[in-house]
Amino acid sequence: MLMPQAMIMAVEGKTYPVVSEENQKAIEKCKKKLRGLIQEKHCAPIVLRLAWHSAGTFDVKTKTGGPFGTIRHPVELAHGANNGLDIAVRLLEPIKAEFPIISYADLYQLAGVVAVEVTGGLRYPSILEDRSVPYLSLVVLPDKTDPPPEGRLTDATKGSDHLRDVFGHMGLSDKDIVALSGGYTFGRCHKERSGQVDVRI
Ligand code: HEM
Repeated sequence: MLMPQAMIMAVEGKTYPVVSEENQKAIEKCKKKLRGLIQEKHCAPIVLRLAWHSAGTFDVKTKTGGPFGTIRHPVELAHGANNGLDIAVRLLEPIKAEFPIISYADLYQLAGVVAVEVTGGLRYPSILEDRSVPYLSLVVLPDKTDPPPEGRLTDATKGSDHLRDVFGHMGLSDKDIVALSGGYTFGRCHKERSGQVDVRI
């Protein structure tokens, strides 16, 4: 189900959601606010982790879980893998209040994109600069209410079979695991959150 302001656009035989002018403008303003917040609070790592943990519960077979804003609910935040992510949810709350047209689902993914941008990573073209591309679907995710069951995210104490299993449920390949693991260039472990001691350099 798309948000009411979304329409469908056909590109090369495939259909993609397109956002309304009003939503596009809100997204651009929201990105600016997110840049300010992330720079001021130095919270790019935890915001990126929020975006990832929100999306990483997706199960390709049942089409359940995934980046639909459910991670803000206490029951999902209480999943062991999400320890500490209440901080990111709280940090983003004032921005959500400023942009009611943007779903939590979109806000969290947008925040992840901006976190990568402000730390010098890939910059996605502005949706106002290029309206032809299908990644517009990034900004029309609806909020859902049902949180996924616990246990869909990766466990840092397990090995490669576990990684393949977890990412496989998301419909992702070994190549995707390697690409996404670029997220490891951000932030660190916090013993009080994950129980892990940082070994990154
Ligand atoms: C491949 C399997 C993965 C495992 C086992 C894993 C596990 C962990 C653990 C244990 C932490 C420490 C959390 C803490 O103590 O604060 C962490 C942090 C982090 N993870 Fe992952 N993760 C995985 C994949 C990813 C992916 C795909 C991304 C993003 C694309 C990502 C982004 C991050 C970021 C940015 C942090 C730092 C958070 C901070 O500094 O507050 N992780 N991860």
